[in-house]
Amino acid sequence: MANTDIGIDLGTSNIVMTMGRKGVVLSEPSVIAYNTRTERVLAVGKEAYEMIGRNPDYIRVARPICDGVISDDDLTHSMIREFVLKVAGYQLIKPRIIICVPSFITDIQSRAVVEAAKSAGSRQVYLIQEPVAAMIGAGVNIAKARGHMIVDIGGGTTDVAIVSMNGLVTSHTIKNAGNSIDRAIIKYMQNTYKLLIGERTAETVKRELCNLYDPNDEITYTVKGRSLIKGLPAQVQLNEIELFKAIEDETFAIMAAIRKVLEDAPPELAGDIYDNGLLLTGGGALLGGLTQLIRRTLNINCTIAKDAVNCVAKGTGMAFRSMTTLLDGFESATVYKYR
Ligand SMILES: Nc1ncnc2c1ncn2[C@@H]1O[C@H](COP(=O)(O)OP(=O)(O)O)[C@@H](O)[C@H]1O
Ligand SMILES: [Mg+2]
Repeated sequence: MANTDIGIDLGTSNIVMTMGRKGVVLSEPSVIAYNTRTERVLAVGKEAYEMIGRNPDYIRVARPICDGVISDDDLTHSMIREFVLKVAGYQLIKPRIIICVPSFITDIQSRAVVEAAKSAGSRQVYLIQEPVAAMIGAGVNIAKARGHMIVDIGGGTTDVAIVSMNGLVTSHTIKNAGNSIDRAIIKYMQNTYKLLIGERTAETVKRELCNLYDPNDEITYTVKGRSLIKGLPAQVQLNEIELFKAIEDETFAIMAAIRKVLEDAPPELAGDIYDNGLLLTGGGALLGGLTQLIRRTLNINCTIAKDAVNCVAKGTGMAFRSMTTLLDGFESATVYKYR
């Protein structure tokens, strides 16, 4: 692995990059702010995130990656280019880049990812499947003929997968994840309290007050927004039980997805998984009480990966070391000679 090699986890919410042996060098929201008058990129990452909901008309603040795949090619290209420049600067030797992609990605979508990385100035681009990267990042030895289960709860999607012998055995993806939980909170506040709140507030409420295991009505959080009736700023004391109810459907969908993969697993692997337990990654792994809920309802052991948010990116970077043994997890960009 050369020191210029870059690993990218191109997430819906966050883009995390590793470089050479340095490990994680950047972890920022996958947001770009673009000035439509001058056609220039204003900011990416944290700086652009701060602009959400505060931007004038002529400045577009966008999340170009939707549900784990690229929804706006041009903006994604610009965003990746800015981020690669940020970590690598202008270099004589162009870096090799590995990008991890969701397990359900189509060929066309993978091409878009490869193009984006190429336009950022890389000499070679590789793709790796996200669940495989997550397992490597968590330090699990996936080369053996043993089944391991991973549940990655990101912003746009929850991916449940079983990995064995460096490959994906079965997987299932749903769009119930961090963002849809935030939307459910926004809807609940509107319907129940006629309080309009923004997505950033909803996310904070989720982080601060979520308890999926034993919610308590005495633990509360002050939610600030705008009253839909008076049109003026207002605030509401929300308690854990109310939040639990607000996001109950979302939680249920995630539990159902895990159950489905367990049911679809070949019996030998199902046995392995009951021994090994399942591994949670992604920001959603930190939802309060989730591990206890999984243990209680699915009767299966469950752990949160160390550094859950960066786990996939770490694994992506580490994959440079095992390129030869991991070939089935990779696809060389040279496959995509379609122009
Ligand atoms: N402590 C937390 N509790 C609950 N959700 C969290 C927490 N921290 C981050 N998240 C959520 O995790 C999601 C982002 O996770 P991430 O793995 O970075 O997503 P992606 O891979 O899609 O970019 C967001 O929806 C965010 O709100
Ligand atoms: Mg992710």
